[in-house]
Amino acid sequence: MATTSAFLLLPLLLLLHLAIAAHGIGINYGTLGDNLPPPAAVANFLKTKTTIDRVKIYDVNPDILRAFAGSGISVTVTAPNGDIAALTKIDSARQWVATHIKPFHPQTKINYILVGSEVLHWGDTNMIRGLVPAMRTLHSALLAEGITDIKVTTAHSLAIMRSSIPPSMGRFRPGYAKHVLGPMLKFLRETRTPLMVNPYPYFGYNGKNVNFLLFRPNRGLYDRYTKRSYTNQFDALMDAVHSAMNALGYGDVDIAVGETGWPSVCDGWDACSVANAQSFNRELVKHLATGKGTPLMPNRSFETYIFALFNENQKPGPIAERNWGLFQPDFTPVYDSGILRNGQFFSPRWSTIHNSRCTGL
Ligand SMILES: *[C@@H]1O[C@H](CO)[C@@H](O)[C@H](O)[C@H]1NC(C)=O
Repeated sequence: MATTSAFLLLPLLLLLHLAIAAHGIGINYGTLGDNLPPPAAVANFLKTKTTIDRVKIYDVNPDILRAFAGSGISVTVTAPNGDIAALTKIDSARQWVATHIKPFHPQTKINYILVGSEVLHWGDTNMIRGLVPAMRTLHSALLAEGITDIKVTTAHSLAIMRSSIPPSMGRFRPGYAKHVLGPMLKFLRETRTPLMVNPYPYFGYNGKNVNFLLFRPNRGLYDRYTKRSYTNQFDALMDAVHSAMNALGYGDVDIAVGETGWPSVCDGWDACSVANAQSFNRELVKHLATGKGTPLMPNRSFETYIFALFNENQKPGPIAERNWGLFQPDFTPVYDSGILRNGQFFSPRWSTIHNSRCTGL
């Protein structure tokens, strides 16, 4: 009978949702577009139509923080690189918390404050030198303001790596390791906070390795030092980072993925297509949901933020930059990325049928 099967199906769907949520599928909510929907519509869309349970933003936009209040979706915010100097001083760090965090906390669940964005990659010497002191001071400022449930970290591009192949020989650039990443990992261990990295298999595309990059069947990569085989680039990059951390004595610190993804359109390069972007993101979501971890980190799960929620029409640079989104600004999916509720392909026309069926449940 229809009713019986519906009742059997519902717990299954909930379980499936929980299984994914437990491994933390998040999304980067960038706002470099002049046609993006208002934050409240975005929060409602994510909550009702997708299995995304966390978003990451590149600033401390008060409208976005307000929009996610009480939504059950947590927000990771970013202190812009330009705020790093101020955050190294406790008085201005407390002021920063009072201005940007306190008005929204705890109604909006804020998981992390990221201090700057890929500072080792883009920042000047003063920002790099101030990074770990700013993280420590901001952590103290949060405690001084009575906030104990927001962690402080920062996201790194893989330019922090000197070597990544084979994965067991992954090492950080020696200067960064000594002056920044070592002290940062010490702080992250003390505060039980993950190191956040932005691994992009896409940037390693060379036309021949597409199956390895897209989690498709392939010959794999053998690491002769550990005798482990890799079937995908994502695991290989994660294990390279883990090996680099391990070499500094911090292999126990968790790793979170601040950004990863694949653009659906680009110019003059066959890496980008809707099919490739879909493959990467779908398989990534599935891979993370298994909870299998990687060859060097078995059974470890990685909180992951896909880049990005929307195609952003005002992002500068090559065409690909404006085509990282899973969704168009009107919420039409660019492709089915596997994060829609009940595994249904959502489109405006479809949603009417789909919603009425859900209401029927
Ligand atoms: C990983 O999980 C599996 C299944 O629960 C278990 O058999 C295995 O021992 C675990 N491995 C490690 C290294 O914890």
